[in-house]
Amino acid sequence: MGQPTDSTPTNSLTVRDNRTGKVYDVPIVDNSIPATAFKAMKAKPAPGEREENETERGLRVSDRGFLNTAVIQSQITYIDGEAGVLRYRGYPIEQLALHSSHLETAYLLIYGSLPSANQLKVFEAEVLHHGVIHSDAELFCRSFRYDAHPMAILTSAFAYLGSYYGEANPSLQGQSLYTKGDPASLAIMDKQIYRLIGKATTLAAMAYRVRQGRDFVTPPNGLSYTGSFLYQMDHLGEENYTPNPVLEKALDVLFLIHADHELNASATTVLQTGSSLVDPYSAIAAGCASLYGPLHGGANEAVIRMLISIGKPENVPAFIEAVKKREKVLSGFGHRVYKTSDPRSFIVRKTADEVFKITGKDELLETAMALHEAAMKDEYFIKRRLAPNVDFWCVFPVHDRFEPRSNGNLQERSDIPRDGLPT
Ligand code: ACO
Repeated sequence: MGQPTDSTPTNSLTVRDNRTGKVYDVPIVDNSIPATAFKAMKAKPAPGEREENETERGLRVSDRGFLNTAVIQSQITYIDGEAGVLRYRGYPIEQLALHSSHLETAYLLIYGSLPSANQLKVFEAEVLHHGVIHSDAELFCRSFRYDAHPMAILTSAFAYLGSYYGEANPSLQGQSLYTKGDPASLAIMDKQIYRLIGKATTLAAMAYRVRQGRDFVTPPNGLSYTGSFLYQMDHLGEENYTPNPVLEKALDVLFLIHADHELNASATTVLQTGSSLVDPYSAIAAGCASLYGPLHGGANEAVIRMLISIGKPENVPAFIEAVKKREKVLSGFGHRVYKTSDPRSFIVRKTADEVFKITGKDELLETAMALHEAAMKDEYFIKRRLAPNVDFWCVFPVHDRFEPRSNGNLQERSDIPRDGLPT
């Protein structure tokens, strides 16, 4: 490839290695460069250089924290962090939150386009049908202590489920199990999709019930995906239990806006784990573990803990001062990608407002509002462009401190002390 001049722009990068004087052309495709191109840039080690650098074997690309490295190009989600834009397959998240459902959006993400009415009916039926779990898995979940963290239960339960489905395991069925592209291989893949989505809420409800000391409930017939989830968490033997439609819709919107977020930590973990051709249940278990951390999905738990520790609105100024002195972190604020606003946080806020209409407000919410107001006005947060992320308001629609009851009221749990959640 010739040297580019000002008059002949080419889609490539010219790199001169000053150690050797050699010049290399690196192609630019989709505004990115292949890290492997740097392998060709070899040099003699400088005097005293670490042997481990293996300088003669080519240059390495270092990107601690994956701050500017993509392992794959997302065909699914588009994020503009500066403008606060999030789209799934071209559809703005706000439109989907308003007009779609979690399962319809899941179909869109997985298969690439919105389903027809009939396709959606079949997909919903398959997912709900696969919600039931083998009774041995109930024993497995029951074996956790009452105060086990629900994400520890969920992570383990997904991995455990993998042991049931030998037909879904490339170690047992051959490495091309999911890549043949024939109808049988696609059918196996579809079945794992139904199972994973269908059983996710059943396992999550079981994790919740372990903490509540309640018996498990078999997934009901005739309810929506989130209605069934609420039933499995909340049903205490009442006849004709019906989940409150406002809570049902709120949960559905929460699921929908969390369904994908490009190559975040958990999605990257699933891809990396899956790249070894492990079974899909183990890959999802790995993703769950990544999501669990307080800098990622665990941030909404960190928000509750933070709000409980602040206690009441009067204590907010002192907390803000502690954050500015770096003694504390304002959980639920800041985002690696969104630097103006997280569009999902507006959707959650609006959804939470609907929930408050039936549940009323409490001191934690008043504290959150005071915290939000104080942070948005404070120079420390303005200068660093720190705004609420999806996790800040997410804790309110249905959080672990409350039990959603069938009449729509959230009843405060008695087993959680006011000064902190069980550890
Ligand atoms: N509270 C106080 N200060 C903060 C916060 C925060 N929540 N977030 C960032 N900062 C400060 C940093 O200390 C840093 O200050 P400095 O420049 O004076 O050193 C500056 O803002 C930039 O911070 P970075 O760490 O470079 O920001 P980055 O974009 O890398 O971090 C992250 C993003 C990890 C999400 C961070 O904002 C954070 O820890 N937030 C709290 C945890 C949280 O809410 N996570 C959920 C993310 S959403 C999700 O995963 C679903």
